[in-house]
Amino acid sequence: MFADRLSFLSAGLIFLFLGVGIPGLAQAAPNSKASAQAIQCLACHAQTDVRMRFKDGSEKSVQLNHDAWSQSAHGKSLACTDCHSGINLQKHPAKKSKQLLNSARDYTVQQSQSCEHCHSVYYTRVLDNIHSKLARTENAKTPICVDCHDAHAPLDSARSSRQAISKNCGDCHPGVYAAYKRSVHGKALQEENNPDVPVCTDCHSTHTITDPRTDLFHTTSYELCAKCHQDEKKMTPYGLTTNVLSTYLEDFHGASNRLYKMSHQNPKQALASCTDCHGIHDIQGRARNNPTHTRAEVRERVIVTCRKCHEGVTPAFADAWLSHYPATLQSAPLVWAVKVIFGVLNPLLITFCLLNVLLNLWRVANRRGRPTYKPF
Ligand code: HEC
Ligand code: HEC
Ligand code: HEC
Ligand code: HEC
Ligand code: HEC
Ligand code: HEC
Ligand code: HEC
Ligand code: HEC
Ligand code: HEC
Repeated sequence: MFADRLSFLSAGLIFLFLGVGIPGLAQAAPNSKASAQAIQCLACHAQTDVRMRFKDGSEKSVQLNHDAWSQSAHGKSLACTDCHSGINLQKHPAKKSKQLLNSARDYTVQQSQSCEHCHSVYYTRVLDNIHSKLARTENAKTPICVDCHDAHAPLDSARSSRQAISKNCGDCHPGVYAAYKRSVHGKALQEENNPDVPVCTDCHSTHTITDPRTDLFHTTSYELCAKCHQDEKKMTPYGLTTNVLSTYLEDFHGASNRLYKMSHQNPKQALASCTDCHGIHDIQGRARNNPTHTRAEVRERVIVTCRKCHEGVTPAFADAWLSHYPATLQSAPLVWAVKVIFGVLNPLLITFCLLNVLLNLWRVANRRGRPTYKPF
């Protein structure tokens, strides 16, 4: 008898547990009218695998993933007909209507115009980006909203992880993606799921992607790298120096780059930015924990990079350059001495100049009222 009751109780508990555990039912609660409608539509659309056919022979299944919908931001607050406004249950499914459209792609483009109604801010951002420009001018097959966001589960494909973001871009940019995956940044992302390394959108942004092949992008691109490589907190765990930016800006390459940037002129010659020496998507590290990382090895490797712009130079040429090491008494005594002397001389000179001017003014002021000097 007691055992019977116990099993009844536990069965009840299991039932309760299951009931709460059905994601669609429990979580669609916030907007019950919308979810009631969705349940009606999904009664067919979560099951049927009917395919729409288009003029060019392309097809599209009308099946939807119930759980993905009900857990998404859209599933929690929208009704199906907020976007599919033309559909009502009495006259649905419409007979063969979709055959009027040329292709499955045309259908996708047509349907995704609904995004504009509720997300006009994102819509206008995207209008000015390089993808949209190339679509207009060169008819390029660049992405629209739903290539990155599943309309029925909008962040699933886009933001589920940083890996997913770079893979999403990579699907259409396979060459860049392959290089990126081999780079020190990409490897750390793929193999260690490291959150500190950059993914595509950290450097290119997401909705406001600009053309990276312009001079402006090139002369300002060092700021992208500096965001992280100047950040003590981010770099210490990897034993990387944060001097890379300051040393770059102090040497001839960085100094002239900065001058061009300030004057908004187009540089007449190739200017060395971080990416010219390190690569862009294929940046390599110095193989962490590699004890055979000798100065001679580095010099050999470095000079190959220098030759890209300084044709035919010998390895000794690299010694004319301090790399990312700040000048110290030990590493570069001469440069250090010149810096110190200038550091002292410059302020002294300026002080004396100012003093000279002040004394002159004082003299002029004190002469006021006295007879001026008249020859003869
Ligand atoms: C009785 C089952 C059933 C129900 C209920 C149902 N659909 Fe459909 N739906 C279909 C079938 C079958 C197709 C494929 C028709 C075709 O081949 O063109 C379809 C096609 C669609 C399409 C793609 C074609 C188009 O016109 O864009 C959309 C969108 C759609 N349904 C939305 C809905 C919505 C929203 C609801 C709820 C209001 C709903 N459906 C309810 C069976 C159903
Ligand atoms: C936020 C707007 C939005 C909402 C809400 C929405 N849809 Fe869609 N739906 C779209 C867009 C955009 C497409 C075209 C997507 C594509 O082609 O990749 C689409 C396509 C479809 C299709 C065609 C097959 C496919 O997957 O491309 C069906 C069927 C469909 N929706 C049914 C529904 C049902 C049922 C609901 C409610 C449970 C719903 N939609 C809610 C925007 C929406
Ligand atoms: C009828 C209005 C409406 C339409 C049309 C609409 N959305 Fe949304 N969207 C919403 C609402 C409401 C939210 C939830 C906002 C929130 O939670 O802050 C949302 C959220 C989102 C999010 C963020 C999801 C998250 O988890 O934070 C994305 C991405 C998104 N929508 C993309 C799209 C795309 C792509 C389209 C076109 C296919 C579209 N939306 C069409 C109303 C709409
Ligand atoms: C090339 C891919 C891509 C395209 C095209 C794209 N998005 Fe996004 N979107 C993303 C990614 C990735 C995220 C999440 C990470 C982020 O914010 O950078 C995102 C985030 C969002 C968010 C949520 C912001 C938040 O933080 O809650 C909304 C809303 C959104 N997108 C709407 C749109 C709309 C509307 C369009 C079309 C006009 C669009 N997106 C086009 C990739 C894209
Ligand atoms: C649906 C495919 C698709 C997706 C997804 C996509 N792109 Fe593109 N993108 C293109 C096409 C097509 C071009 C035009 C130039 C070309 O053919 O490479 C382009 C051009 C560009 C350009 C301009 C430079 C050039 O080569 O013309 C940049 C930068 C860019 N994409 C970055 C991104 C980033 C970052 C993401 C992810 C957030 C992304 N793309 C996602 C298809 C895509
Ligand atoms: C660390 C920053 C950074 C990351 C991460 C990054 N890029 Fe770039 N990307 C750049 C820079 C800088 C340029 C322009 C280089 C130049 O020519 O000066 C560029 C150029 C491009 C171009 C145009 C030139 C070309 O090579 O075709 C495309 C397309 C592109 N990136 C796509 C991507 C994609 C896709 C990803 C992710 C897999 C990505 N980028 C990751 C910095 C980055
Ligand atoms: C989002 C932050 C971030 C951005 C932006 C970024 N990096 Fe990095 N970078 C890292 C992290 C973190 C590491 C260490 C990864 C590891 O060792 O696993 C790293 C490693 C490197 C290394 C290898 C160092 C070594 O010898 O081990 C080089 C070189 C490098 N980055 C150059 C660049 C350049 C050039 C840019 C700009 C085009 C850039 N990075 C942009 C975070 C960033
Ligand atoms: C003229 C070529 C050149 C330029 C420009 C340049 N680097 Fe370097 N960078 C090098 C070389 C060579 C090394 C290796 C030095 C060594 O190990 O002795 C290096 C090393 C590094 C390292 C590894 C540092 C460490 O602690 O081991 C990082 C990170 C780095 N550079 C980032 C940058 C960033 C960010 C920029 C732009 C602000 C930049 N570099 C500009 C050539 C350059
Ligand atoms: C992308 C091209 C580029 C790369 C790569 C490059 N440089 Fe330069 N370098 C320049 C330019 C341009 C100047 C002239 C700067 C100016 O005066 O505006 C310059 C100037 C110099 C100077 C000053 C003397 C002179 O010849 O004008 C030295 C020294 C130098 N670079 C060393 C190096 C070393 C060492 C490397 C390799 C680690 C290197 N550069 C890589 C473009 C480059």
